[in-house]
Amino acid sequence: MHHIQHRTLIVGNWKMHLNVAQSSLLVHRLNQRIKAHRDVEVVLAPSLLALQPLSREIDRRKFRLASQNAYHKDEGAFTGEVSYTMLRGLIHYSIVSHSERRLYFNETLEVVRDKVTACVRNGIAPIVCVGETQEERRQGETKQVLHDQVTSALANLTADEVAGIVIAYEPVWAISTFGGEIAKPDDVAVALAYIREQVAGLYGDHVAASVRILYGGSVDENSVRGYLDVKGCDGALVGSASLNYHRFSSIVEKAHVLHS
Ligand code: 13P
Repeated sequence: MHHIQHRTLIVGNWKMHLNVAQSSLLVHRLNQRIKAHRDVEVVLAPSLLALQPLSREIDRRKFRLASQNAYHKDEGAFTGEVSYTMLRGLIHYSIVSHSERRLYFNETLEVVRDKVTACVRNGIAPIVCVGETQEERRQGETKQVLHDQVTSALANLTADEVAGIVIAYEPVWAISTFGGEIAKPDDVAVALAYIREQVAGLYGDHVAASVRILYGGSVDENSVRGYLDVKGCDGALVGSASLNYHRFSSIVEKAHVLHS
């Protein structure tokens, strides 16, 4: 299938690690090591608390920010929540429906759809995470799961809106904290192609060619090139290796292939 070449998107998901001071220190270290590359876009997803200070500290030629989550209503009596509306202007992207949120916080397909809708309504590009569990894989349900997760997450969006989002394939069994089996690039290729096919079936070939699809799950400086070389892979969503400045800057360096 036809596929538009984008800048390679490397996203660091810091999960629930690093307070504000530690986050600033990591950004400082990354800034010393990472150069601005025309062909790589680097996105950092720190805790909600660190987004505001980091938005003032980052070099915007090198880094963009993402949230890891937010609430789908724009405002109201929802004690303890932060909305996408409040994050507007602070972040370019938001990770939505990470498997940890689906599994630990009971995010259903409907919740995910509402969050994706809220992101787009607020001018934020969602990074929609999809992926099967070990059990689903064993039962041969991978395609059904991906189909259901993709279809429902995008249900409220127009074709134009879908063209601007990001989908991350994160097989749960390959995430370091859930077992960290290493997915083979060939398996990743099959899943990415299937996801793009689903988007084509729903929104047409043009939209499917534009939508960016990432791979996530135990990506590190040694494995990243193998995944980025998969046909149709637009980047990587990195967990634990993104907390280490040597490893994350090395991942960015390996993603950079255009030597000008
Ligand atoms: P690891 O890179 O630690 O396996 O985590 C992957 C992930 O969940 C990124 O969102």
